[in-house]
Amino acid sequence: MTRAGSMPTDSMRSGTAAPGRASIAARTLRTDNWRRAPLLTFTLLSIWVLYALVRTVSQRAYFVEQYHYLSPFSSPCVSASCPPEARDFGTWFGHFPPFIPLALLVLPFLLGFRLTCYYYRRAYYRSFWLSPPACAVAEPHKKYSGETKFPLIFQNLHRYFFAAAVVISLINSYDAIRAFQGADGGFGIGLGTVIMVINVILLWAYTASCHSCRHIIGGRVRSFSRYPLRYKAWTFVSKLNTKHMQLAWTTLATLMITDGYIALVASGTISDLRIIN
Ligand code: FES
Repeated sequence: MTRAGSMPTDSMRSGTAAPGRASIAARTLRTDNWRRAPLLTFTLLSIWVLYALVRTVSQRAYFVEQYHYLSPFSSPCVSASCPPEARDFGTWFGHFPPFIPLALLVLPFLLGFRLTCYYYRRAYYRSFWLSPPACAVAEPHKKYSGETKFPLIFQNLHRYFFAAAVVISLINSYDAIRAFQGADGGFGIGLGTVIMVINVILLWAYTASCHSCRHIIGGRVRSFSRYPLRYKAWTFVSKLNTKHMQLAWTTLATLMITDGYIALVASGTISDLRIIN
C-alpha cells in the first residue's frame, strides 16, 4: 500500500507488484495444499545435511578394513588420520584435527556440484528462501537480483563442478571395486559390496543426467545426422535427464544408506552379510 497521493517506489513495484502484473491483493489464489512440497523438501534436506555433517566431522566408523568398505563421506581418505589400508591414493596431508572431514580434498567440489545443480536450486530456493515457495504464490522478498549478480552468479560455475563430479564418481567406482574383497584378502562379495555398487551406479546416473552433461554431449551440434554417436549418447542422457529430480533424491538416500551400513559394520553393531567369502 502507498500513502494517498505518493508514487510507489521501485522496490514496491517489483515482483507481483511490478507494472503490468494483475493487481491481486491475495498472496495466491491457489486453493490446494501448496505448502506441503516446500515443507517436505525443507525437512528432508535438513535431515540429510544434519546427518552428513555429523558423519563427516565425527571421523568414526567409516572404514571396514576386512572387506575394504570405505564410506563415500570419507573418500578419498588421504590424510595421516586414515588407516594405512584406506589410503589407496596416498597420504597427501598430515593428521587432521577433530571435526575436519577426512574427504576434505573433494568435499568443496561435491558440495559445489549439488548446490549449483539446477534441480537443487529449485528445491532450496523454494523451501529455504521461499523465492517463490510455489508456482503462482507471491514471494515475501521485495527484490530479486537473479543469477547475473553476486552472489548467485556463482551458480554459473555448475559446468565446472560437473567435471569435478566425474572425477569423484570415478573415485567412488574405485571404492566399489575395492569392496569386492573377501575376509582372506581375496575375492569376496558381501551385502556391503552390493550396497556400494548400487550407490555408485546411481551416482553415475545422477551425474550423467546433469543438464551440463547433456549440453556438453549434444550442445552446439547443428546436424545430429553427422554425429550419430553423439546423437545416441545425447538421446541416452536426455532420457536420464527427465529423471534428474528422482535421481537427485535417490542418490541422497543411497549415500546415506551406504555410509550408515558401513558405520554399523565398522562399529561392530552388526556383521556384514557375506554372499561369497
Ligand atoms: S543440473 Fe543437477 S547435477 Fe547438473
